Amino acid sequence: MQKLLSSLGPVAAVIGAQWGDEGKGKVTDILAEHYDIIARACGGANAGHTIVINGTKHVFHLLPSGCLHEKKDIVLGAGMVLHLPTLLEEIETLKESGIDIVNRLYISPESHILFDFHKEIDGALEELRSREKGQGIGTTKRGIGPAYMDKAERVGIRMEMLGKNIEGELKERAKRVLQCYGVTIDTDKEMANMSAAHAVLKGRVIDTIEHMHSGLSNGKTILIEGAQATLLDIDHGTYPYVTSSSTTIAGALQGLGLPPNALTSCIGVAKAYCTRVGSGPFLTEMDEEHADRIRTKGGEFGATTGRPRRCGWLHIPDLKRTAQINGFTHWNITKLDVLDTESEVSVGIDSKSDAEAIYDAIPGWMEPTVGMTSFADLPENAQKYIYFLEQKTGVPAALIGTGQGREEMIIKS
Ligand code: GDP
Ligand code: IMO
Ligand code: MG
Repeated sequence: MQKLLSSLGPVAAVIGAQWGDEGKGKVTDILAEHYDIIARACGGANAGHTIVINGTKHVFHLLPSGCLHEKKDIVLGAGMVLHLPTLLEEIETLKESGIDIVNRLYISPESHILFDFHKEIDGALEELRSREKGQGIGTTKRGIGPAYMDKAERVGIRMEMLGKNIEGELKERAKRVLQCYGVTIDTDKEMANMSAAHAVLKGRVIDTIEHMHSGLSNGKTILIEGAQATLLDIDHGTYPYVTSSSTTIAGALQGLGLPPNALTSCIGVAKAYCTRVGSGPFLTEMDEEHADRIRTKGGEFGATTGRPRRCGWLHIPDLKRTAQINGFTHWNITKLDVLDTESEVSVGIDSKSDAEAIYDAIPGWMEPTVGMTSFADLPENAQKYIYFLEQKTGVPAALIGTGQGREEMIIKS
């Protein structure tokens, strides 16, 4: 671990390389022990990050996964859209496990409030798209798109307004929301949610940029937990089947107000195969028989919506592209154990046209790797698979996941 930490340096980021759910939460939790400030930059409760500790599962949507470690500062950056009842619920759940994070929570006044009406608009727009085009984007219906629409239109309400009276503004907004989307804003309920959040969070809406920069000047370290993933990025993803935020490292730095030259490393997280939730292209999608097996073995059901995830093989050109966009310094290849019973592992290495992938077939290892923590213990073919990925992408696989549990991770020097 010490060798890995010195190669990561004081400002490290964890960024998804595929379509999300790669296992960013798990690696963030493992590394968080060694960092002072853990930060989320963008997105909202569309994220679902799972950690398993001693068999107990914890799922985070807004708080970064590192917050189970006591004494760490938790930053929610300006790029985020915050559904306050969800945030309170997460804080409360942690409290029930004996972890109080309020006094170490730093919320950017520039982050936007995501209201219940945003969720309703999200649902209404999905329905409209399904009706008009036969299919929606397959959003998480957490209100993400509509909240960022308000932000881009410059009518969003930010966390700096917590504790202030915004009833008039909401009532004014209600007319247009009803007219445009047929959605009624329940002003009383939205105001009650604001009051409840103010009661818990007052004093925690703080200049997060100053907090992080003064921390850095005092020798503190920062771990950035990305949400969503590069192929879901609003600019660089498989548009229009993407989310509404910038999910790359550049987006994360922007969302936090950290300069690019502060960053010392960027870990790309990719499954040993690939999954996607929602609509959109997936060149290396598996046939149903394979997909069923992987879905069952890998527990491939959304952490936020419970939807079955579509399953496919790795696609090297995508990994290379996401490595280029993010400047990955390390890979965390996750869920290697899920491939243990595959006699052959396919990897997309190129494509004939946009519609057909060309595959390499890698011999499987057909031996359990579950729970392994040493690279040398891996079956030879599993090692070869990792070497193959490193060689094809030019990025070293520093971390390799072999199970859900916090301990089930190989740290390869
Ligand atoms: P995130 O959104 O990137 O944090 O990922 P999710 O939590 O949505 O989905 C990843 C799922 O895979 C979770 O259920 C994790 O517990 C699980 N997971 C993570 N790493 C591994 C691994 O190496 N092996 C196995 N079997 N499961 C893993
Ligand atoms: P984490 O952080 C997987 C997907 C949705 C949909 C598209 C747009 O857990 O990796 P949105 O609700 O954002 O407007 O939906 O993006 N999506 C995710 N898929 N993991 C996520 O987050 C996701 N966040 C959004 O399924 O296809
Ligand atoms: Mg997830």
